[in-house]
Amino acid sequence: MQPCLNCIAPACRASFGINEIIYNCPKCGGLLEAKYDFSDIDVHLLKRIWRERRMENNPLDQSGVWRYRELFPFLDDYNSVVTLREGNTPLLQSVRAAAYGGLANITFKHQGFNPTGSFKDNGMTAGVAQARRLGMKRVACVSTGNTSASMAAYASAGGLDPLIFIPNGNIAYGKLAQALEYGAKTFQVDANFDQILALVRVLTERLGIYLLNSINPFRIEGQKSIVIEMMDQRDWKVPDWVVLPGGNLGNVSAFGKGLRELHQLGFIDRLPRLAVIQAAGASPFYEYMREKGSKPFEAQGHPETLATAIKIGDPVSWPKAQFEIETSNGVVESVTEQEIADAKAVIGHSGIGCEPASAATLAGIRKLKLDRNADVVAVLTGNVLKDPDYIYRYHTGALQAPDSSPIKPNFGNAPIVVPNDAEKITALLAG
Ligand code: F0G
Repeated sequence: MQPCLNCIAPACRASFGINEIIYNCPKCGGLLEAKYDFSDIDVHLLKRIWRERRMENNPLDQSGVWRYRELFPFLDDYNSVVTLREGNTPLLQSVRAAAYGGLANITFKHQGFNPTGSFKDNGMTAGVAQARRLGMKRVACVSTGNTSASMAAYASAGGLDPLIFIPNGNIAYGKLAQALEYGAKTFQVDANFDQILALVRVLTERLGIYLLNSINPFRIEGQKSIVIEMMDQRDWKVPDWVVLPGGNLGNVSAFGKGLRELHQLGFIDRLPRLAVIQAAGASPFYEYMREKGSKPFEAQGHPETLATAIKIGDPVSWPKAQFEIETSNGVVESVTEQEIADAKAVIGHSGIGCEPASAATLAGIRKLKLDRNADVVAVLTGNVLKDPDYIYRYHTGALQAPDSSPIKPNFGNAPIVVPNDAEKITALLAG
């Protein structure tokens, strides 16, 4: 069997060539996913090869994505790959954060260590490779900031023109700055993420531009490497829980697919449970799953959260996400602005740090009251420097929720203004 794109809709399951430029099933509109013949996979051999590749100087092997290329073999050759040494992100422990989350231990898989500072790089290197293989010249996305930063970097590194569409005034400056610096043509649109996605889909179709939002199945293939690398780093010991923030729900779709494939092929002996955490003001998937999918999925017209990365009311990948949550016996939770802000400060005070959306994980863990001895991996999706404005406001007591209610700096650490006077500072420190 050649690699192909399959419709995931149970009533359709149509199959298409791997080189077709489609993002939804042309027959029924369903979501697409890549399928492969894995019959030649040798688990023990691959586990060894992947370890050995960490020692190699070949850029493909040094990449924490392409090192695991046998599990997403959609390319004929690797000439179209652009790598910036993505992946290779650490597992970090924090006693402080574990205690805050009601756990004996917690492990963070910190995707903020990626070249552009978020987990998007794992998927973007794959999406851009497919764009180049197809001979596309221009690529586009709508973004709450991280996808655009990542796409700008990988497209420019690969000689493609990146076109970025962002909700005006609603993305963190660190991310906008990256897009500009990496040379993307950047359009600020007076509309929200969901509305702009519809616009970008029209434009990409009309102008023959390759769409690199997470609806693109090759982005999902690359993002599978996050859980593959995590399992490799854990010597294939399966955690009880993998917790991640949910926005457009591409990442949970990728994690679920990656873990299922690892399980089916025999790399791991069971599936961890997935927990997706949404911001309360942008929680359509939480609301839907609370009703156990018994009512039709309903988009939220006016999503609101200071965690702008996950400010999404109409997540395109919800059918995939529902399948992965149900298959892994997972859960979906929602957390308030105050809960996100406090959890973020705790992660920061652990010396680890992350952007607001990422902190929804620890806030969610605390709320879910997991078994104290559970083995939990929380995925920190973005770097602390993505949104410094939020940090300064929180610590100085100036942060306000979208409805203008104040956020209390429960773990605030405001800078102290002092005179240029050793005596006075000494007295202050003694106090
Ligand atoms: N965390 C961060 C830091 C993100 O940037 C995003 C998504 C998510 C979590 C949610 O992941 O969409 O796969 O459920 N950011 C997208 C963007 C939407 O445009 O950068 P998801």
